[in-house]
Amino acid sequence: MTARNPVGVGVIGAGNISDQYLTNLTRFPDVHVLVVGDLDTARAESQARKYGVQEWGTAADVLAHPDAEIVVNLTVPAVHAEVSSAILAAGKHVWSEKPIAVDRADARALLDQAAAAGLRIGVAPDTILGPGLQTALRAVARGDIGTPLSAQTVMQYAGPDLWHPAPEFLFAKGAGPLFDMGPYYLTALVCLFGSVTRVAALGSTARAVRTVRSGERAGTDFEVAVPTHVSALAQFEGGGVGQSVFSFDSPLTRTGFVEITGTEGTLVLPDPNAFAGQVRITRVQQRGRDPEWETVTPVGIEAGRGLGVLDMARAIRGGGPHIATGDLGYHVLDTMTSIDEAVASGETVRVASAAPGTPLVPEDWDPFGVTA
Ligand SMILES: NC(=O)c1ccc[n+]([C@@H]2O[C@H](COP(=O)([O-])OP(=O)(O)OC[C@H]3O[C@@H](n4cnc5c(N)ncnc54)[C@H](O)[C@@H]3O)[C@@H](O)[C@H]2O)c1
Repeated sequence: MTARNPVGVGVIGAGNISDQYLTNLTRFPDVHVLVVGDLDTARAESQARKYGVQEWGTAADVLAHPDAEIVVNLTVPAVHAEVSSAILAAGKHVWSEKPIAVDRADARALLDQAAAAGLRIGVAPDTILGPGLQTALRAVARGDIGTPLSAQTVMQYAGPDLWHPAPEFLFAKGAGPLFDMGPYYLTALVCLFGSVTRVAALGSTARAVRTVRSGERAGTDFEVAVPTHVSALAQFEGGGVGQSVFSFDSPLTRTGFVEITGTEGTLVLPDPNAFAGQVRITRVQQRGRDPEWETVTPVGIEAGRGLGVLDMARAIRGGGPHIATGDLGYHVLDTMTSIDEAVASGETVRVASAAPGTPLVPEDWDPFGVTA
């Protein structure tokens, strides 16, 4: 079925992650991708042609498109704020890949600019709209594990220099394991526990120089500007505590590990960098026995990256808030920046901002349905 009034979408940034966005945004009926832009216009053209998008060009061409209401910012973190600000200045709503910006001042300026212009900002990760986290949020809200007390998360592997053809930005300010992968884990924890109020952390950098390992530039050395291993502790507003490892220094891959322990049980979540997966609960076991698992009945339809853009598009047409807001993105950036400061200073750091409550996605929410 075709929507009568789909929301026009432009995309700036036709790199690695644009495949996932363009795959999904071109199959959700409520949005219509009109134009793709990149500094490298040949890349924009090739991605546009691959996904049947009619127009391509530079970022300026996307901003000038009269029917693009939302522009999706898939550039590298160092220019997220600059590109998002230009999108707002062109009178369009922003969906930004994470993080919203690389420092608090730029992120705050964007939120102020959007508010003054009456425009929306949505920020990745939109995995929080996926069936995996939505099922877990409902389980916690129902009291399936009693009162949530603590969280453990682990994201460790040998690093994106292994697979990304241009991995330099992932070891620059605004990235590293904390700022690149932290948004998935910390956004999930903030949705489950509420705002982070203070953090402590230690970090290290295994190698000052790393080497591109895949693609045409394999063998190229580059400098590392950030800690590549961070161990962080977080206190949440209700008193819960979390401990998280973010590492690009581990030969042993352990990613997507998220456990929430409550007074009545421990909830195991799927990878917060994925949209779906099993949610399981175990309760106190007898000594010497293996844990017994209950599987939580899943809700929702699996789709993938672009759900946040779709949710924002539907909110634009229907009124009301969207879910993955700029304010949530700001709080997660503020938390990560505080963790980074704690690594540098060795001190506990208070987190000043608060996250807005995250509304649940309705159980019958169908990304492939027509509502516009
Ligand atoms: N690669 C992944 O698996 C992945 C997953 C989730 C999120 N992300 C996020 O998506 C974003 C992009 O990551 P990527 O891996 O696609 O990076 P990438 O380097 O492959 O692609 C970025 C693209 O943006 C373009 N670009 C940079 N500055 C620009 C500007 N000022 N104007 C127009 N185009 C510009 C580049 O030319 C490039 O084509 C990052 O924020 C990253 O954190 C990436």
